[in-house]
Amino acid sequence: MAIRILGTGSYVPPRALSNFDLEKMVETNDEWIRTRTGISERRIAERDVLTSDLALEAAKRALDMAGIEPSDLDLISVATVSPDRPLPSTSCMLQKKLGAENAACYDVLAACSGLLYSIEIANAMLKAHKKYRYALVVGAEKLSSVTDWTDRSTCILFGDGAGALVLARDDSGTEEDKEFFIASKLGSMGKYSDLLQIPAGGSENPATHETVDAHMHFVKMDGQAVFKLAVSGMVKACRETLEEAGVDPEKVAWIIPHQANMRIIDAIANRLELPLERVFRNISKYGNTSSASIGLCLDELNRDGRLKDGDYVLLTAFGGGLTLGAMLIKWYNKK
Ligand code: ACO
Repeated sequence: MAIRILGTGSYVPPRALSNFDLEKMVETNDEWIRTRTGISERRIAERDVLTSDLALEAAKRALDMAGIEPSDLDLISVATVSPDRPLPSTSCMLQKKLGAENAACYDVLAACSGLLYSIEIANAMLKAHKKYRYALVVGAEKLSSVTDWTDRSTCILFGDGAGALVLARDDSGTEEDKEFFIASKLGSMGKYSDLLQIPAGGSENPATHETVDAHMHFVKMDGQAVFKLAVSGMVKACRETLEEAGVDPEKVAWIIPHQANMRIIDAIANRLELPLERVFRNISKYGNTSSASIGLCLDELNRDGRLKDGDYVLLTAFGGGLTLGAMLIKWYNKK
């Protein structure tokens, strides 16, 4: 029995918001944003486009590549911090739009590490139960809906998008083993939960006129503190994952770090002694898309034909929670 990646898909809305556009909205400039973050532009969804709509487009592309129908899906997982509504789950909204009536649906809230958590859960469910054959795993965000467009310390960072994977359980045992999952390390540091949060809208601060006036429904972040913890956390998770797998860093064909800040990405590559040409980066085009980020990268690499059979790909992420993780996968192109 092996779990395989049958397809990937991604979607970003067409409207790009450049650093120059942001210069007209808050006290900032293109040079500061590019040198401090590596971001040149980000995509912003229209008012009536929901997180589940972004997820839908990415999902359709992944299903198309996988060659399966929505009705074949047994599981749908959506990782997001910007759900369509607090209730129901965005995965149920996606199920409705896809017409995937046979799937069990659940959301995962682990911020920028959300896709890694989702893959880990779906992989374990597929391995544990024969009744599950196909899982759709999506990371989708409309971060523009939880961004404070008057706060220059955060609004320059975030963008909208979605990335998806179709995982499948293969019981045939006749073909060459194409198991994708090699090793992982997930972790959380709840003691730092206040460093990155949306303070209102939950049981602690239900929505009131005051919470709205105080901008408490938007992302707040202590950027510098998160920065330091992000670098050390991801490097440690990557090292532990490679060690568990018995794979040396030089055997890794690609590392896909969560796209939060170019300086964080460079610092990770540096500490792991990985050459920059093996470090995937698309942050300049999309900014930080939280749960969607790793899925966007994986699909771009896959569709560009840059992933070869047997390639080790190291995924790593860090985000609100604080959550963190690394996952080593082995790539096989769909024949
Ligand atoms: N334009 C111009 N100046 C700015 C801007 C801006 N947009 N934002 C802040 N500044 C100023 C500050 O006011 C400060 O000025 P001062 O020195 O006069 O006080 C100066 O620039 C430096 O500010 P810092 O906050 O120290 O800037 P830093 O180099 O740390 O960069 C950033 C900030 C980009 C947010 C960085 O800290 C970062 O990327 N942090 C990590 C983010 C992250 O990884 N988040 C996790 C995932 S997100 C999620 O889970 C949803």
